[in-house]
Amino acid sequence: VQKQEQMYEGKAKKVFRTDDPNIYWIQYKDSATAFNGEKKAEIDNKGILNNRISALFFQYLEKQGVPTHFVELLNDREMLVKSLEIIPVEVVARNIVAGSLSKRIGQPEGTLLAKPVLEFYYKDDALGDPMINEYHIAALEWATPEQMDAIKAIALKVNEILKEFMDSLNIDLVDFKLEFGLHNGTVLLGDEISPDTCRFWDKDTKEKLDKDRFRRDLGGLEEAYREILRRLEGKLQD
Ligand code: C5P
Repeated sequence: VQKQEQMYEGKAKKVFRTDDPNIYWIQYKDSATAFNGEKKAEIDNKGILNNRISALFFQYLEKQGVPTHFVELLNDREMLVKSLEIIPVEVVARNIVAGSLSKRIGQPEGTLLAKPVLEFYYKDDALGDPMINEYHIAALEWATPEQMDAIKAIALKVNEILKEFMDSLNIDLVDFKLEFGLHNGTVLLGDEISPDTCRFWDKDTKEKLDKDRFRRDLGGLEEAYREILRRLEGKLQD
């Protein structure tokens, strides 16, 4: 396929059309943002690491029967995906209390949840992605109840698969964010799965191997993302 005009530029990625209406071309940038874009930096090689990490996660999930937009890795920073009409809902899945949940409910980070929690946020930068529930989604017709059933089932399945997989890499899957879209009417998992969108804690040292290193000024972000890629590649090459 041939890359055509840019359709959209987000905080971490650019999306281009191609000569095939079923395929988009995604380029991962080195930009890091946090707190709804208030904090910004360029992190060397972040786009390369997230492109490769996302591709490995999507390929692994596809093998286990999860429908994703991933088509193929093109080069260091670029991948082909199926074209999606984005559903404007961000889905967060949590296994361990951290981040905004810790603040909202006043429970310490690291508290184990007895079962996974799903949360929904309206994808709107100007509003800072406010939390919503399934009544809002249905009433505003952002997704049908049938699409929401598919989204929840996929989110919980991704959680089960990735929790077990990360466990085998000696990493706790604390929480993560997913986005979904429609491709010819079918719900597919879209966006990216990377240390920008997940919390990963080393099981022994509890070291954070994710974007909290940037949010909390801990340093060593590139090294942490490289460590995630190293463990993924080590496991997947077996
Ligand atoms: O900030 P919060 O604790 O709600 O984040 C939960 C999870 O969702 C974290 O892994 C975070 O990286 C991810 N997230 C995201 N994009 C957002 C909000 C949260 O990737 N806009």
